[in-house]
Amino acid sequence: MKRFVVGNWKMNGRIADLDDYFELCDAFKNPMVDVMICPPSTLISRMTNTSIMIGAQDCHMAVAGAHTGDVSAEMLADAGATKVITGHSERRTDHGETDEMVAAKTNAAWNAEMQVILCIGETEAQYRAGETLNVLKAQMAASIPDGANAHNLTVAYEPVWAIGTGLTPNLQEIADVHAVLRAELVKRFGDEGAGMRLLYGGSVKASNARDIFRLDNVDGALVGGASLKAADFIPIIDAAEQA
Ligand code: PGA
Repeated sequence: MKRFVVGNWKMNGRIADLDDYFELCDAFKNPMVDVMICPPSTLISRMTNTSIMIGAQDCHMAVAGAHTGDVSAEMLADAGATKVITGHSERRTDHGETDEMVAAKTNAAWNAEMQVILCIGETEAQYRAGETLNVLKAQMAASIPDGANAHNLTVAYEPVWAIGTGLTPNLQEIADVHAVLRAELVKRFGDEGAGMRLLYGGSVKASNARDIFRLDNVDGALVGGASLKAADFIPIIDAAEQA
């Protein structure tokens, strides 16, 4: 499977920062892996037409209407984004997004002909209580709509306690979780589930990327902090190309 490295800039990035982004584009004119940046929506239209794909970080579940401050999948596609993240834990926590809302947003993205990177992950308390696999299975069952296939869906496993903390599960834990996620996807979607890319996210950086990419059923990474500067992100893409 072609590896997929996604940078999630979150609420960071202004026009003045784009020189650094164009350096990244220059470094990967023909990347051997799929590379995507999800900038804030204010920058999407300025970052298209390069070898790097552009995605959005969230979308509304409706096509248009009276939803002050929100942006629909159609609008994001219109601005030049081809994919969108749904279900990021910061959306689930900061905006109270439920699995049902994540499913509705995912369907909205597909209706706009966008592909989705759907995030799941357990909290630290759930991890400590040994509930990780049950939590993830329940999140997948309720947030992935029936129309998922290998083309329109990528699943990102991001332990909430690993995001932005410098902590990660150990390699065996990541491999074990990804094996279970793969089995669940195959059980529900058959060959399409076998072909869906599974990303790991949470404190991925140059020093741990290669070991993570070498694990079975890890088809790439969702990277937050280490995607903000080309100098930090380039070695992670290199690792994906070489692992
Ligand atoms: P991080 O964030 O790489 O800064 O831990 C990952 C994410 O939230 O997608």
